[in-house]
Amino acid sequence: MNGGAGRPPFCGGEAVQWRRKDLLGLEPLEREEIELILDTAESTREVFGREIKKFPTLRGRTVVNLFYEPSTRTRSSFELAGKWMSADVINISPSGSSVQKGESLLDTVRTLTALGADAVVMRHSQAGAAEFVARHTRAAVINAGDGAHEHPTQALLDLFTLRRRRGSLDRLKVLIVGDIAHSRVARSNLWGMSKFGAEVTLCGPPTLLPPGIEGFVPGVRVTTDLDDALPGAEVVMVLRLQRERQQKGLLPSLAEYSREYGLNRERLRRCPPDVIVMHPGPANLGVEISEEVASDPRSVISDQVTNGVAVRMALLYLLLGRDTDGTAA
Ligand code: CP
Repeated sequence: MNGGAGRPPFCGGEAVQWRRKDLLGLEPLEREEIELILDTAESTREVFGREIKKFPTLRGRTVVNLFYEPSTRTRSSFELAGKWMSADVINISPSGSSVQKGESLLDTVRTLTALGADAVVMRHSQAGAAEFVARHTRAAVINAGDGAHEHPTQALLDLFTLRRRRGSLDRLKVLIVGDIAHSRVARSNLWGMSKFGAEVTLCGPPTLLPPGIEGFVPGVRVTTDLDDALPGAEVVMVLRLQRERQQKGLLPSLAEYSREYGLNRERLRRCPPDVIVMHPGPANLGVEISEEVASDPRSVISDQVTNGVAVRMALLYLLLGRDTDGTAA
């Protein structure tokens, strides 16, 4: 069936196993919970092939995208995910809302709760903001990035993309390169990958490697020598240089950073031939990754974006797609 009104493919009994109100990070999740999300996303992906993608699973539910920082991928994919499942989706950003008049985060959340929000997808510059909000609303809260703390849905879509490409997540050899200090993507991936026994190497200039990061999860190695680390990597995840979060003086110049840590065609030759190249986006092309590497067949950057919708549909379904007695809708 290729219509929109049919039973969605992920309407099985899996929601009965999902017991969390919120998704605030990957740190507290068990491996089995991550697998449940990825398996559900595998089912949601079937919708991509349909001519009409809309179906009624979340009809009558309200999802609020509350973004205090800019976003293209995360916000749009949550909006699509909600709309394809027939939820009402509202987008709120500081400009154009009462945040500009000085309304506090707490009052904003109380207002959204009073308006009947069932889920709040939230991005904020402060670590812990999503957890704070979750304590003050009955709505499900999904952390869409809080400071340098976690970006769990990005890591879930990264894991989903890797599992689809490689067949398994077990014992991955991953090299994460770049601005580790400011990266919530790196932290969420470290939590997620560690639950599958990954060997993760973090690489960057000393000023962008936070002290003690090697003890963050078991099996983490740290190096400042990218050329030395590339040959052993099954996966190279390049991070965006987060200039908006950096203090002045952390890097001599962008040109020097690119020379030492940019992934270019020459460096790609040092990797195993079937290496998987990832970047969460948005990429500073020509700085941390060259345009030709970003568009190389070994790059899965476009897949990451597409898979973001599947993973976010799965999460909204698991968090909201239940009747009030907890059974699958
Ligand atoms: N990867 C990511 O979070 O991208 P956006 O900032 O565009 O949402």
